[in-house]
Amino acid sequence: MFIRSTRIFIDGKLRPACLSIHTGRIGGVHSYTYMKEDALDAGDWMILPGAIDVHTHMREPEKPRKEDFTTGSQAAVAGGVTTFFDMPCYRSPCTCTVGDLAAKERLASTKSICEFGFHFGATNENSDLVKRLQPHSLKGFTYDNHSPLYLTHAGFSRHFAAFDAKKPFIVHCEDEETLCANRKKFTEHEKIHSPEAELKSVKEINSLARKFKRRVHFAHLTLAASVRAAKIGNSMIKPLLPNEAERPFLTCEVTPHHLFLSTDDLKKLKGYGMVNNPLRKKSEVAKLWKMLPHIDMVASDHAPHSPADKAAGAPGFPGVQTMAPLLLHAVVGKKLKINEAVRLLSSGPAKAFTISRKGKIAPGYDADLMVFDPADSWKVDASTLFSKAGWSPYEGWTLRGKVLGTILRGEQVFWDGEILVKPGFGELVQRSPKIGSERLVLRKHSKER
Ligand code: DOR
Ligand code: ZN
Repeated sequence: MFIRSTRIFIDGKLRPACLSIHTGRIGGVHSYTYMKEDALDAGDWMILPGAIDVHTHMREPEKPRKEDFTTGSQAAVAGGVTTFFDMPCYRSPCTCTVGDLAAKERLASTKSICEFGFHFGATNENSDLVKRLQPHSLKGFTYDNHSPLYLTHAGFSRHFAAFDAKKPFIVHCEDEETLCANRKKFTEHEKIHSPEAELKSVKEINSLARKFKRRVHFAHLTLAASVRAAKIGNSMIKPLLPNEAERPFLTCEVTPHHLFLSTDDLKKLKGYGMVNNPLRKKSEVAKLWKMLPHIDMVASDHAPHSPADKAAGAPGFPGVQTMAPLLLHAVVGKKLKINEAVRLLSSGPAKAFTISRKGKIAPGYDADLMVFDPADSWKVDASTLFSKAGWSPYEGWTLRGKVLGTILRGEQVFWDGEILVKPGFGELVQRSPKIGSERLVLRKHSKER
């Protein structure tokens, strides 16, 4: 198979080229005129690497009435996402045991239409299991979200010691004590889940990460100050392996909703605006945009809830289908450079989560592609989105540019509004083999940023 376009994203820029695809992988990058007749001709449409969303809540097996691996993955590919990672469920089975993980893998392999991966859940009790199992990534919470994933300080310390230092430990940072104190003073969600609660927790986890000399990934940061605090110490790490040089040990993500929405939108969202971490003031959002060069990736935190659940106060927004379209809307509007968008959507997550053969258009990589028409536009209408949530915080927004098609391992999985493959087409994503469990080595004389 051949696909050609005047704008394929190769080596950091858009250029005319023709890709050959063999057995699902990119065989070669050729000149634009290499193959005329047999090529799928994408004209001037952009061909970008498929997006990788490292933070979704696909709700199976916990609450499939909110979402399942089929509807969630359909929403993903319709938004140009070819690989998603599912967070551990909050309640049993919460991806905290080998059986939970195997059950999720079985379910997703028959139901997902795109590539999937799982983050394992850390609890106060399972650090011995984590030590033996060494999953690819781990997730824990610093605040009491009424789930076994809420870790005490001792729980974090046990896991930080037990879990391979080079693998990402994902942390949802909000300081429990600050939240408790805020609850006594305020009723508004944004004031309870305050900026101070986030920042304090980020600082604590950052110093614990440095103490244990281990990799940590900070989930959905909302403040420029948190990004700065999260990254303190990155320059202190001496790479152990040549390919480590490129991979910082402290990474972070931001969500589209923290970039495109603010507390000014709460009125319009009519009580549906509750999310953790919460929306922040417009001035904070502007500062977050300026921090993008220091942010490793965008992740959707796709957290589907029905309108009834939202009305009853459930926090979270659906977002896997609108993530790449929002960033590319910013590209078309010249607010963001295309190479920054691709780094945040594809190569950044692939690097931080050591995903094999994805996140880039180059020979040997999987042919996971997003076909994007910057000249088109569309109106967000939740009734046409694939998530079971049935609503969107961006309802009625006109987004510039449009994801026309999505290709996974060389197969068209989504084209012109239609899903073209059956549940089960998706595969468990491959991640680089375990690279030892030595502690990272601290450099002697380097200064903190
Ligand atoms: O608002 C949120 N909702 N934040 C999270 O971190 C999780 C999520 C959910 O699962 O509903
Ligand atoms: Zn989440």
